[in-house]
Amino acid sequence: MNVYDSEKIAGLLASRGYRITRRPSEADLVVVNTCAIREKAEQKVFSYLGRLAGLKRRRADMLVAVGGCVAQQQGDRIPARQPCVDIVFGTQAIGRLPALVERAEAGFGPLTDTGPAEGIEMITGAAAGGLDAGISRFVTVMRGCDNYCTYCVVPFVRGREVSRSPEAVVAEVRELVADGAREVTLLGQNVNSYGRKEGLCSFARLLARVNAVDGLARIRFTTSHPKDLSDELIAAFGSLDKLCRHLHLPVQSGSDAVLKRMNRGYTRQHYLARVERIRAACPGIALSTDIIVGFPGETEEDFRQTLELIREVEYDSLFAFKYSDRPDAPARRFSRKVAEEEKKRRLKAVLDTQEHITRRKNRQCVGRIETVLVEGVSRRNAAAGAGAARMQWTGRTSENRIVNFSREEGAAVAPPQTGQLVDVLIEKAFAHSLWGRAPAVRPVKPRPKGDACYAA
Ligand code: 5AD
Ligand code: SF4
Repeated sequence: MNVYDSEKIAGLLASRGYRITRRPSEADLVVVNTCAIREKAEQKVFSYLGRLAGLKRRRADMLVAVGGCVAQQQGDRIPARQPCVDIVFGTQAIGRLPALVERAEAGFGPLTDTGPAEGIEMITGAAAGGLDAGISRFVTVMRGCDNYCTYCVVPFVRGREVSRSPEAVVAEVRELVADGAREVTLLGQNVNSYGRKEGLCSFARLLARVNAVDGLARIRFTTSHPKDLSDELIAAFGSLDKLCRHLHLPVQSGSDAVLKRMNRGYTRQHYLARVERIRAACPGIALSTDIIVGFPGETEEDFRQTLELIREVEYDSLFAFKYSDRPDAPARRFSRKVAEEEKKRRLKAVLDTQEHITRRKNRQCVGRIETVLVEGVSRRNAAAGAGAARMQWTGRTSENRIVNFSREEGAAVAPPQTGQLVDVLIEKAFAHSLWGRAPAVRPVKPRPKGDACYAA
C-alpha cells in the first residue's frame, strides 16, 4: 500500500515539475513515506531523518516531506523532534501535497496536514510520471479498515473503510495497462467487505470487470480477511482466467484463545474449513499467510497450535512478525506480555517450519512446465547453474513463485520480452526461487482455461 501511495505521490509531484532521482543528495525534495505497523518500522523513520538532517546542513535549499502512517500519528511532533522536516502530510493528505510543496518552496514551514481526504476518487496520476514500477502495478480499491484487530494501528492511521467505485478502479487499471502494466494487484485491508457500505458491487464482481480489461495478463489481490471470505470470491478463482492461483489469507494465530483476544472474528476451525473449500474449488492454489508470534498472553500451548496449523495447511509462503505494542491499539494495555527472547525463539521456529515446507513444495515443481510472466532480465546474470555466462530472465508463476530462467540452447524463437507469458521447464528448486529453461515462447495470451481452477 505504501509503494502504491509512493507512486501516487511521484505522479502528483510530476505536475509540479519534479522528477524521480534515486540519490537523496541530488534531490530538491525528499519525500519519506512511512509505515507504523510495527515499532521497528517507526524507529527506522527517525534514523533516516537523522541522516537527511546531515545532508540538509550541506544543502539548505533541500525540502524534506514526511508522509504516511507515522506522519498521520505524530503530526507536528515530527518537526519538533527533527527540525530538518519542512512538511508533514498524513495518509489522507496526499492529494494536497503539491499545494504544501508550493508553500514550502515559498519559504513557509514547517507545515503539517493530517486532515481527512476530500473524497476517495481525488487521488489520480499513478500512471503519469510516477515511479518506474515495471509491468506489475498496484491499484487501491479501498482504504482504511473497520476491523479493529486489537494489535493493529491501521484503523487509527488510515481511518474508516471507504471503497472506490468499480468505474474508477477499472479506469485506473486501463490507464496502467496503457502505460505498460501487464499485472495488477488490487489492494485493500479487507477486500471481502469491498463496496458493502457504499452499496457497490461485490469484490468478485469487481474482479470480473477488471478481468475484462484488454491487454492485462494477470490479476492479484490482497488482503482477504478469513472471517468473511465469500463463496462467491472462492468461485472467482474458477471462472476468471486472469486471476492468479494464489490467495493471501492471514491467520495470525492457530489458537482460538489468542484469535479471540486479537478480535479476529473467526476460529481455527472456521479458518481450516475455508482453506478446505478453496482447495476443493482450486486444487494446487498457493496459499500464504501472516503470523504474529508472542501476542500478549500467548502460551507455549497456544504457540504449538500455531506451528501445528502451519504444518496442517502447508502454506506456500508466510510472513511472520514478533508482536509489537502500538500506540492506540488496545493490546498495548493487555497483560502477560511475552519476553523479547521468547518472541525471537518463536519467530525462528515459525520461519524454520515454513522453510522446510517451502523447500519441499518448490522441489515438487521440478520437471513441470510453468507459465511465467517475464518481469525482466535477472539480477544474477552471471549464470549460477547455467554454465556459461548467458542471459537470464526473471518472472513469477501464477502461484507467485519466483522463476529465474535461461533460453533453451539454439532456440529458434526470439528472446523473451518483459511482459510476455513464457512456458518454462523447471529444472532446479531453491529455498526462495525456481530455476528453469524456456523451451517455447508462446504468443501473449491469457492463461488457457485448462490451466485454471474449477468452481466449487
Ligand atoms: N505487531 C506485530 N505484527 C503486526 N501486524 C500488524 N500489527 C502488528 C503488531 N502490532 C502484522 C499482521 C498483519 C501484517 C500486515 O502485520 O500480521 O497481517
Ligand atoms: Fe489491521 Fe485487522 Fe484491519 Fe488487517 S483487518 S488492517 S490486521 S485491523
